[in-house]
Amino acid sequence: MGKLIKRGNLYFPDKEFKKRAWINNNSIYKEASKNPIKFWGKLAKELYWFKKWNKTFAHKPPYFQWFQGGKINISYNCLERNLEKRRNKVALIFEPEPLGEREIKLTYYELYRKVNKTVNALKKLGVKKGDRVGIYLPMIPETIISMLACARIGAIHSVVFSAFSSNALKIRMQEIDAKVLITCDGYYRRGKIINLKDGADKGIKETKIKKVVVVRRASNKIKFVKGRDCFFDDLIKEQSDYCKPEQMNSEDKLFILFTSGSTGKPKGIIHTCGGYSVQAYWTAKGIFDLFDDDIFWSTADVGWITGHTYSCYGPLLNGTTFVLYEGAPDYPSLDRWCHIIEKYGVTTFYTAPTAIRMFEKEVGKVKENLKTLQLIASVGEPINEEAWKWFFAQVGKEKCPVLDTWWQTETGGILITSLPGVGPFKPTFAGMPFPGVQTDILDNKGNKVKANQKGNLVILPPFSPGILRGIYKNPKKYKKTYFGEYGDKVYFTEDIAYKDKKGLVRIVGRADDVIKVAGHRLSTGELENIIDSNNKVAECAVVGIPHKIKGETPVVFVVLNPKKKATEKDILKLITEGIGKIAKPQKIFFVKDLPKTRSGKIMRRILRKLFTGEDLGDLSTLANPQTVDEIKKKIKK
Ligand code: PRX
Repeated sequence: MGKLIKRGNLYFPDKEFKKRAWINNNSIYKEASKNPIKFWGKLAKELYWFKKWNKTFAHKPPYFQWFQGGKINISYNCLERNLEKRRNKVALIFEPEPLGEREIKLTYYELYRKVNKTVNALKKLGVKKGDRVGIYLPMIPETIISMLACARIGAIHSVVFSAFSSNALKIRMQEIDAKVLITCDGYYRRGKIINLKDGADKGIKETKIKKVVVVRRASNKIKFVKGRDCFFDDLIKEQSDYCKPEQMNSEDKLFILFTSGSTGKPKGIIHTCGGYSVQAYWTAKGIFDLFDDDIFWSTADVGWITGHTYSCYGPLLNGTTFVLYEGAPDYPSLDRWCHIIEKYGVTTFYTAPTAIRMFEKEVGKVKENLKTLQLIASVGEPINEEAWKWFFAQVGKEKCPVLDTWWQTETGGILITSLPGVGPFKPTFAGMPFPGVQTDILDNKGNKVKANQKGNLVILPPFSPGILRGIYKNPKKYKKTYFGEYGDKVYFTEDIAYKDKKGLVRIVGRADDVIKVAGHRLSTGELENIIDSNNKVAECAVVGIPHKIKGETPVVFVVLNPKKKATEKDILKLITEGIGKIAKPQKIFFVKDLPKTRSGKIMRRILRKLFTGEDLGDLSTLANPQTVDEIKKKIKK
């Protein structure tokens, strides 16, 4: 195990680190940027292709394809490709939340058999290549098995975060016309059993779902609909343990994952078989430096993209052993996550700034020595300097590189980070674009900004293999959202960033209406839509305001219809039923009016500034400047 060398405010890996790392020389950046297409093509060869591609990259702006003509299956690459060398190696360690319950370890061979049986079960239910399958499951082995089974048969999975409400499930399942839903009876969260089946039953009303597969997890009482519902274990028990993997075209859809944007409705992000596999495989290998003796733990829930790429596909593609933890990292006590690291000898720990800040505040000094850790990493929101330093000192004990990894649901895998064998690691800076990825920071006119100046972060052709190929059923939105700002050859990330003189990138935050609440991506527009849908509400505005632990938190302003009454509780109910508890606002204000321009546009920026203390600017251009004072008084109260 190496040491870190400090030079000024930068940290570098020492010789020993470099010796171990897959990438240990910064010449790789030069090599990759000379010909990124060739570079990605070379990496893609490390995976198993039934048929090699004819063309590595094809560009028809705003669309592009990777590995055209190639045939691949990600489940084959996660399973068969590892059987020869790692048949009896543990693939997945499931750590249940209840302390009295024993962990489950599945070897690559066991996982392979279970996935195959599940494929045969899905086939029996009539699932075919191209069908959409909803997965409404928490962090349990069957979630991973179901994803791999869908991928093996060429069915497109769409995982819905288990903490999302039944309504959120319904909207998503309707949008993709899902045929089958895989869910469970219940799961453990902070000591309580959450009845997920109940949510699933409500969520599939008014959808085309004909069959519901129920994993037995918490053995809680559920409603069972005969003819529609079946238990996962009953269904797979009788199936044979082999099913030939479908030879998927590289550009066939692998999964659809919904995410929030500026508008009121979530968008179904499309990821494809070839490009995503290469991105997941190579970023997991190169960034987390995965070797056969590693134990990898990403705390991200599989309902989000980080869970897809680094709690499932990335580690499996690399033949790694990874931890899948069901519950809350601070349950039943704040040191649970330390005990998980110790119990399994975790070497690589990937988590979010919100968790880091929570532990920093609540735990302070970490007494466990966490000696097995070699790499620690963060994702999902900007990490502040204090949290970075605490993570580095208390968790990494000043010997582990801290990787701040930047990416999005849309990019499929990490795109900006420092590499463990190269560095440098600079507090609050994500680092350099990954080799083979070309980014820039532009002003509103499309000019490059100078060092240390903020601008819009963009990704340039050939982008990278894992970037989305579209928004499900909405090509217009795809073009407008990602290629609307600088033309159809420049992908706009909707993030604001700047570079230091060395070219290290620091992410500042979003340029659109997306807010990151405890790392969860929510849209203020979506929240407004839900609140507005109630006939008691005349109009509303939602803004994200800074929060010490969660990064950001929503605050709601509601104008009620004349003579209608509603309480905070009513609004809260709308939000928890529409999205889920994760969107619970910090505060709900009932106001008479909202600040507006003369053309009627609600000035959310002003509402936000009322909390940050920033200068409100010239209010005289507003149609109703007096409302700002009224609202100010309410907030002060
Ligand atoms: O604003 C950026 C922020 O999270 C957004 C993407 O959110 P989501 O699609 O949920 O994916 C999160 C996990 C990949 C980005 O547009 N973000 C992500 N990583 C970072 C970040 N902000 C700052 N630093 C990061 N490391």
